[in-house]
Amino acid sequence: MDDKRNGQVGKSANAGFGRPRYAHITGWGMAVPDRVVTNHELAQIVDTSDEWIRTRTGIRQRHIAVDPRETSATLGARAARAALEVADFPASRLDLILCATSSPEHIFPSTASLIQDALGAVHAGACDLSAACSGFVYALSLASSMIVSGQADSVLVVGAEVLSRFVDWSDRTTCVLFGDGAGALLLQASPVPGGVLSSVLGSDGSGSDLLIVPAGGSRRPATLETVASGQHFIKMDGRAVFRFATHVMAEATRQALEKAGLGVADVDLVIPHQANERIIRSSMKQLGLSEDKVFINIDRYGNTSTASIPIAVCEAVAAGRLRPNDNVVMVGFGAGLTWAATAVRWAVPMGQEVPRWRAGQRSAGYSLARVRSRLLRLSRKVEGTLAGEQNEGLGKIVADRLEEWRRARE
Ligand code: COA
Repeated sequence: MDDKRNGQVGKSANAGFGRPRYAHITGWGMAVPDRVVTNHELAQIVDTSDEWIRTRTGIRQRHIAVDPRETSATLGARAARAALEVADFPASRLDLILCATSSPEHIFPSTASLIQDALGAVHAGACDLSAACSGFVYALSLASSMIVSGQADSVLVVGAEVLSRFVDWSDRTTCVLFGDGAGALLLQASPVPGGVLSSVLGSDGSGSDLLIVPAGGSRRPATLETVASGQHFIKMDGRAVFRFATHVMAEATRQALEKAGLGVADVDLVIPHQANERIIRSSMKQLGLSEDKVFINIDRYGNTSTASIPIAVCEAVAAGRLRPNDNVVMVGFGAGLTWAATAVRWAVPMGQEVPRWRAGQRSAGYSLARVRSRLLRLSRKVEGTLAGEQNEGLGKIVADRLEEWRRARE
């Protein structure tokens, strides 16, 4: 953490060999597309109703990226900038960017690399993590391990989605559920106990067919037939996923608490993956947690997959539901099947003002990052052209020699 902000140590946490290190959440940010789509609007395109969607899922509206220029990387970069702003932390000091996403811009390069470029995080490694809706907690857990083991001092964890582009808008069983958005948390090393206390990661691949985008990977590459038969859209067995989720959310929460040496009574807030309000309420009932201990915002965003937990964190902070020394559990589930839970001691003092000039400085840094990226692209093109010309020259030498050889033989 930045010494100036809260007296805790960032880079220097490395200093004493063998000194325990902790991974604290020091920044949080979110971004959603402007366009809000209500249940009533959906009822005009598929055979559904606001009443059905609300009572079965808790969703009232979702944000949808209607502008094709808005992607998981652009939303992720916006959320990331907001998180760096809160922590008053320069992108150039990041060691690693992990992006959990189920709707990457491409199979490769990673969405994390695109975010790294947009931020100008020139010293950061970057990679994507695929664990569907559990991906954000998976990434948080790996980021924390990197920090605790001394491999990194600062890791930006992003969850970013535009799942609306993988939704079949004629399938009422799935299209009402998902929304677009991104959230990001910054993790920093500190010698102060707290931060990420434990994590539980799980997978049961025997349920891989329950929630799947069947084509577009190496098993079923894109063909005219896969496109025509809608195999690039999300397919889901809703009831089976529902049964799995209600069981696994409570169990993973219990396990993460136990690993952290905490009991259910110690929990101040659970921030669950926002897939279905009924799943959340049923899981919390199993744990014996009262409603005031659970954060729910699915009504406004729908299921934003990897982005749902960090978006909920941002809103919980804004609503004053997260205070220093609170014990928080973040828990998710998703395709794979996968599940993940982490117990965190929230240790960040709130409400510190970041000087305006520093925000201006950072914004100038992002403009510079754009220029830098363009220049690098341009210089690669120039290099490529020059190399092409050289190759042409070489080609001429080879052709001349061959001609000489042919003549000599005649
Ligand atoms: N509007 C109106 N009716 C709908 C509908 C919609 N959007 N979607 C499905 N229905 C209908 C079904 O066709 C079915 O009709 P039928 O009885 O005539 O066959 C009926 O509603 C009940 O369907 P069912 O699937 O049993 O509903 P449900 O109570 O299980 O709710 C989900 C469906 C999808 C909301 C629920 O199963 C769910 O949330 N599952 C988990 C999904 C999830 O979390 N996925 C993401 C994981 S990260």
